[in-house]
Amino acid sequence: MNQILLENVSFRYPNGFLANENLNLAIGQDECVAIVGQNGAGKTTAVKLMNGLNKPTEGNVLVNGMNTKDYTTAQIAKYVGYVFQNPDDQIFNQSVYDEIAYMPRYYKKSEKEIKKSVEEAADIMNIRVFLKSNPFEIPYTIRKFVTIAAILVTEPQYMILDEPTAGQDLNGTKTLSDLLTVLHDKNIGVITITHDMEFVADNFKRVIAMAHKHIIADGSAKDIFSDDEVIKESKIKRTDMGIIGSELGLGKDILNARELVSALDGKIN
Ligand SMILES: Nc1ncnc2c1ncn2[C@@H]1O[C@H](COP(=O)(O)OP(=O)(O)OP(=O)(O)O)[C@@H](O)[C@H]1O
Ligand SMILES: [Mg+2]
Repeated sequence: MNQILLENVSFRYPNGFLANENLNLAIGQDECVAIVGQNGAGKTTAVKLMNGLNKPTEGNVLVNGMNTKDYTTAQIAKYVGYVFQNPDDQIFNQSVYDEIAYMPRYYKKSEKEIKKSVEEAADIMNIRVFLKSNPFEIPYTIRKFVTIAAILVTEPQYMILDEPTAGQDLNGTKTLSDLLTVLHDKNIGVITITHDMEFVADNFKRVIAMAHKHIIADGSAKDIFSDDEVIKESKIKRTDMGIIGSELGLGKDILNARELVSALDGKIN
């Protein structure tokens, strides 16, 4: 079975700062996983270990059995696409089209094939109208979608999305939910870092919580949100409906409006 495996992994930055300590994790290609947790917990550091941008100081990271220590980042990135937290760290072309076409051109695809795949990726991200724009002159949230399309077009086996929900409005969040469905249909494993707990509750079966360099919990959204200790340690906020449900004494595991209504129904009737 294809998977990304972290075995006793620690990572220390060149300045000596230990950002990840003894991470153990297996994520299958058939999974869609959210990583949550406080600022500075080590989430971005951890996902960069998964695509070979960071190589472990201790332990091993295996991508479909390939130890990332034995491969270049470019070799691993073919399998594991990473969409940077800050799009400006990723974008370097003068037009959105060229940015998305960059990797297919690198792989020497024909211009006809490239146009087809660029337009397909742009349509998935709802950014076709921006294809001729300069990426540095469009809003941040659209820029983020350009970087997602630029990785999507490389057809990786896994995609890591680092805070795609930051700043997104309802339409943007819907585009991201739809993207997760597309990735599932394409059999692409997904790892998404996000601070948007409504997005987590609505879209992810498996949630990994991080705090202080460690993975502190790994389970269903219900497992994570109903655990007071995990909530406190990882400094995540329950969903609004979860908070209301908990305040009303309906339990701690309510995730959304539907569950709140059904719990209230049970109480009233
Ligand atoms: N290049 C670097 N050199 C030294 N320390 C770093 C470097 N990059 C990050 N760090 C530190 O490592 C820790 C973990 O950072 P990381 O970016 O992985 O956190 P994060 O969980 O992604 O946080 P956020 O939610 O703010 O994005 C932080 O204390 C950060 O300051
Ligand atoms: Mg981060």
